[in-house]
Amino acid sequence: MDTKKLDKKWWKKEVGYQIYPRSFYDSNNDGIGDLNGITEKLDYLKNLGITLIWVCPIFKSPMDDNGYDISDYYDVNPEFGTKEDLERLISEAEKRGIKIILDLVINHTSDEHEWFLEALKNPESKYRNYYIFKRGKNGLPPTNWRSHFGGSVWEKVEGEVDENGNEMYYLHLFTKKQPDLNWENPEVRQELYKIVNYWLEKGIAGFRVDAINSIKKDKDYLDLPVDGADGLAHNIKYTLNQPGIEGFLTELAEKTFKKYNCMTVAETPLLEYERYSDFIGEGGFFSMIFDFSYSDLDMAKEGFYYSVQDVKVRELRNKIFESQLTQQKYGWGAPFLENHDLPRSLNKFFGEKANETNAKLLGNVFFFLRGTPFIYQGQEIGMDNFVRNDISEFDDIASKDQYQRALGEGFSPKEALYFVNKRSRDNSRTPMQWDEGKNAGFSEDENIKSWIKLTGRHTVTNVKNQLNDEDSIFAHYKNMIELRQNGKYSDCLIYGEFIPVLLKNDKIIAYIRKYENQNILCINNFSDKKQQVELSEIAKSISEKEIKLADILINNYKNIENDSEVLALEGYQSLLVEFQIL
Ligand code: NOJ
Repeated sequence: MDTKKLDKKWWKKEVGYQIYPRSFYDSNNDGIGDLNGITEKLDYLKNLGITLIWVCPIFKSPMDDNGYDISDYYDVNPEFGTKEDLERLISEAEKRGIKIILDLVINHTSDEHEWFLEALKNPESKYRNYYIFKRGKNGLPPTNWRSHFGGSVWEKVEGEVDENGNEMYYLHLFTKKQPDLNWENPEVRQELYKIVNYWLEKGIAGFRVDAINSIKKDKDYLDLPVDGADGLAHNIKYTLNQPGIEGFLTELAEKTFKKYNCMTVAETPLLEYERYSDFIGEGGFFSMIFDFSYSDLDMAKEGFYYSVQDVKVRELRNKIFESQLTQQKYGWGAPFLENHDLPRSLNKFFGEKANETNAKLLGNVFFFLRGTPFIYQGQEIGMDNFVRNDISEFDDIASKDQYQRALGEGFSPKEALYFVNKRSRDNSRTPMQWDEGKNAGFSEDENIKSWIKLTGRHTVTNVKNQLNDEDSIFAHYKNMIELRQNGKYSDCLIYGEFIPVLLKNDKIIAYIRKYENQNILCINNFSDKKQQVELSEIAKSISEKEIKLADILINNYKNIENDSEVLALEGYQSLLVEFQIL
């Protein structure tokens, strides 16, 4: 890698932190997290060392999908505060050297958005063409596609039957309260660009771009082979990453993002690697994208949430490496372990017995990958999943559907509950655990009931316990961030080449970051047994004969055991270590 040619765009240096505002901190004692709550915790985040916050949607919304259903893009949802609160958050963050990016949800709006209300009320209005309305056929909806959150993607419009008895429907890939926008209509696109530019003008640093690879639909609207007991079919063949989407994305980037020195991180599940060049290459549509190839390994079949499976280390490693090498080839990545749609990583990769050492190991594996890392709230203290005993205890709309679907497929209520507990989005949406108090310090008044149940483990896992403990998971994250951001290893850890190593050992995930004369090894033992590693094996991967371990930068144990030839890793030991070539 020719480091002289490296392109050091500002967003490569950032460390992202994702906030789910409803669950971060409740500053006004109503049981719901809010913008002022984030502002109050900025010093905590500054202390952790992160430099950029992705705030999940805070715009006006009936909250059917917790804000991913926007009814007014120009205003803040009162439960989160006011526009002034948002402006204050942006400026207070800036004072601390922290940038804010917002969530851009422009594949769909809420059904309570004024465009949609108008479209429904008046079939002749121009707003009809803002959405995707289609006539059913033979008494059935236009296609047999299943929505991501269950049931048909088509919702019937009451009272619009034609002379042949066929009903009118509108398309929603997510809930029926999230009608899809018609991106084929240039006027819609112009309205959306206005929204994007409005917020960029307000001084935000950019956007996380929601479901953006769903904006183009195949125009033939054909049925797909039925794949479930509900008689429907997974829709993505005709709705995700469709040919021609590039046209929309080029225009979006040109009319908005490229006019600003902003950053964008796009949610693009299942985007084929051959297409990365357009998306994240030089002059690509986005600065970086989230690749879900390794975070979804606990699902045996794409789109089938009840197909829960254990994750094999080898598979995890192969997916991470493939993703890294692709992103390195074409552009820049955004490594992450968790987000608001996924269960906690600790349980996903280490089951119910996951411990602190495991949490530090996972942190080490992901954080030093090449890209702008994103930490999800609570990950830095090792928050884990909960176990609910009844489906009525769940809040997430997707979890409720997945439970019903599992029953429909013939699983017992016990099995269905097991799947939902494992994969529910509620797992990562539980209130942030600030202290051991009655409501985990989520609201200032500890008698306030939070909008969603706590995990119940806040007496053990909380910020207060960890802040001043130099062996804590929090301290581990803080060290990792400090190493990447400040000091003599920064260039290597940020821009350095990513080189996979030790592919023959299926218990280990290890890679090298290489920059000019610096070489750093990130090595992680995923088994509970000791693992011996020949240093010459590592040397071979970079076509060298001999290497010697030098500075130990991160270690989740007190010691390391090595001689000049062999490195012996304890069970779950994880290291970041500089080495020299002899
Ligand atoms: C992806 C978001 O991350 C998820 O939370 C949401 O439900 C869907 N997109 C729909 O906006």
